[in-house]
Amino acid sequence: MTQQVTHLPERVGNPAEPLASVNVLLGVSGGIAAYKSAELVRRLRDAGADVRVVLTENAARFVTALTFQALSGHPVRTSLWDESAEAAMGHIELARWADEILVAPASADLIARLSNGHADDLLTTLCLATSAPVAIAPAMNQQMWAHPATQANLARLRERGVRVFGPASGEQACGDVGRGRLLEASELVAELAAARGPRELAGVDVLVTAGPTFEDIDPVRFIGNRSSGRMGFAVADAAARAGAFVTLVAGPVHLATPPRVTRIDVRSAREMRDAVFAHVARAKIFISAAAVGDFRPQSVAAHKLKKSGASTLELSLVQNPDILAEVAALAQRPFVVGFAAETEQMEEFARAKLERKQLDLIAANQVGSNLGFERDDNALLLLWPNGREELPQADKRELARQLVARIAQLRDAVAS
Ligand code: C5P
Repeated sequence: MTQQVTHLPERVGNPAEPLASVNVLLGVSGGIAAYKSAELVRRLRDAGADVRVVLTENAARFVTALTFQALSGHPVRTSLWDESAEAAMGHIELARWADEILVAPASADLIARLSNGHADDLLTTLCLATSAPVAIAPAMNQQMWAHPATQANLARLRERGVRVFGPASGEQACGDVGRGRLLEASELVAELAAARGPRELAGVDVLVTAGPTFEDIDPVRFIGNRSSGRMGFAVADAAARAGAFVTLVAGPVHLATPPRVTRIDVRSAREMRDAVFAHVARAKIFISAAAVGDFRPQSVAAHKLKKSGASTLELSLVQNPDILAEVAALAQRPFVVGFAAETEQMEEFARAKLERKQLDLIAANQVGSNLGFERDDNALLLLWPNGREELPQADKRELARQLVARIAQLRDAVAS
């Protein structure tokens, strides 16, 4: 029955990396400390972050875009008005891409413009257009730092939740001694990691299924369903961002693999089951987000079925394995999470499913009439043996983040 496993693939990523899977948008403003930002890109990447760099016009007088392009591995943006760059990743897209915006160095002028809510260049526009946390690392002459105008601007930014890293004291490029030096690259990485808080699933093996299954009828036809895989992929992504080693078993979908996720592509329910059982022994958490076909044709025709002249066609279907129930029935089982897509009496049916399949948690959602499948947003009702939580309509990425946080919390409660 259960497939024997001899070799599991190498795990992807390193939970010791404090910024693994974090998208950091590094803004560099005009000041002599801009040269230190090149080193910062290296340190951020060493910490596991994906880094994209935006230079202000003045920063580009001190350092070149080429340096940052080579170090970050991505094209560097310097202007709002670059049509080809906007076509590749528009500034709003860039603002959404960022999990963190870090402006280092932040000059006195940039701080003043941020504090006043300007959006007259790419970097200030991004800082307004993002929902990601913004941190600034000031660097300037000590007199400029101490000026009441600068301090008032900083106080206003702090009030709005902008985090301020440094500056340090010491000798300055201009010859002065005092406060206003950019923090060292390693210190900035540590500040950013500390500000993000602990990663809930650091080093935990998580197995996720996603997408539909296709059950072949003949070489050209199959029985499938409308699952896009987006929810499951978002869950895999959120788990990886929480520090987990994630294996994602994906049915046929058109989605990019999230960073630091090991993906195994399958087609049918039986292939999905085999892939799951090849990896489940190592998993501490199993999240079954796939819409697994309950039935498959009894046999797959070797050749394309022909119209026989009859007005009806009968297909004999046999039941597929219930992968989720099988995993939940294992003697040594991971923390087991199922999904329930319901068209009616959602809570009642989902709770019954939680109990019948012996799950630790079920995420229920309403489907049909433009809800659930093939959409970017969703709403979930989480049910577990003695609790419930409603996650209101949101982007699937955000929902996945909240779901993963709840899984981590419930699993810790079970373990302790
Ligand atoms: O019973 P129902 O199909 O509604 O249960 C849905 C849950 O069970 C989902 O988590 C789905 O991934 C899982 N499932 C499964 N194998 C099946 C059918 C459903 O793992 N054959």
